[in-house]
Amino acid sequence: MKKNIEIVRPKNSQLSNIEQEVREGLTKPLPEIPCKYFYDDRGSQLFDQITQLQEYYQTRTELSIIQRIASNVVDRFKPEELVELGSGVGLKIRTVLSEMSLRGLLKKCTFFDINETFLVQSLAELVEIYPQLRARGIIADFIHHLDLIERSGKQLILFFAGTIGNLHPKDEVPTFLQRLAKQVLPSDGLLIGIDLVKDVRRLEEAYNDAKGVTAAFNLNILNVINNRLDANFNTEEFEHVAFYDTDNNWIEMRLRALCDTRVDIAGCDLSLVFREGEEIKTEISCKYTRESFEETVLKSGLKVTNWYTDDEKLFALCQLEVF
Ligand code: AVJ
Repeated sequence: MKKNIEIVRPKNSQLSNIEQEVREGLTKPLPEIPCKYFYDDRGSQLFDQITQLQEYYQTRTELSIIQRIASNVVDRFKPEELVELGSGVGLKIRTVLSEMSLRGLLKKCTFFDINETFLVQSLAELVEIYPQLRARGIIADFIHHLDLIERSGKQLILFFAGTIGNLHPKDEVPTFLQRLAKQVLPSDGLLIGIDLVKDVRRLEEAYNDAKGVTAAFNLNILNVINNRLDANFNTEEFEHVAFYDTDNNWIEMRLRALCDTRVDIAGCDLSLVFREGEEIKTEISCKYTRESFEETVLKSGLKVTNWYTDDEKLFALCQLEVF
């Protein structure tokens, strides 16, 4: 591997709380599988396909906002380090990197991802483009391992793609933002991409696309469990379900058993029976308004210093700072 690429992992845990997390999740009254397990190589590819779907407005909308504001944000914070929390290294990140580089600021970048293949490949590509760049990849989930970020200058922290929507708005987001606030210095900047509350049909279409890519993505999580925990889920016995929960303001994805079926998960020493119609919850994707997000941020030690959105108000980038 190239000299200026460094890959780090959390010491004790690696990622392999998987046994415990899956056991805990699948034995709940409404069984669930944590959504971070979507992203094996196939899952990451499928997500990439989702981002290109006509129905999935989020990615292109966020990109257009970033392209519009990147130079202003970089002028304001003059960051030397870019930190990215687990949304991949596509055009969005490159847009910001290029603004930093143009101003001679860019020294270092740190990316979180739980998919090592993707992470290593993206870092290698970046170092090709910016040979002076020090690239640090952290193979961990950003919720628990923010402490692995090593600061060497002013930071711009990016949390794109609406991934914050996967965190429970009351149980998880406040603690996450508090932890994040502890890492942020008054001279740093933080940008968070947020999918906005909108017409229910538009939301539900984005998670029930005509080509069935989202369905394939959802079902693939069963393959991930099969591979990693020596289980025998038959993906043909489950169907994709996605609906908008108007009480919680989130999209919920589930997998519904099409028939009575028994599943053995050797890696968890667990056997389960699913009756026809029973469901496994696989993801929430929370939608916010400016008001609901500002309220969520209130006690975190961060404050919203800018709110950028598109003409249709589909998606927002929220700029935060500590005070
Ligand atoms: C990457 C978490 C933002 O919630 O919209 C896409 C994942 N799930 N289609 C989202 C996803 C189904 C996506 N995030």
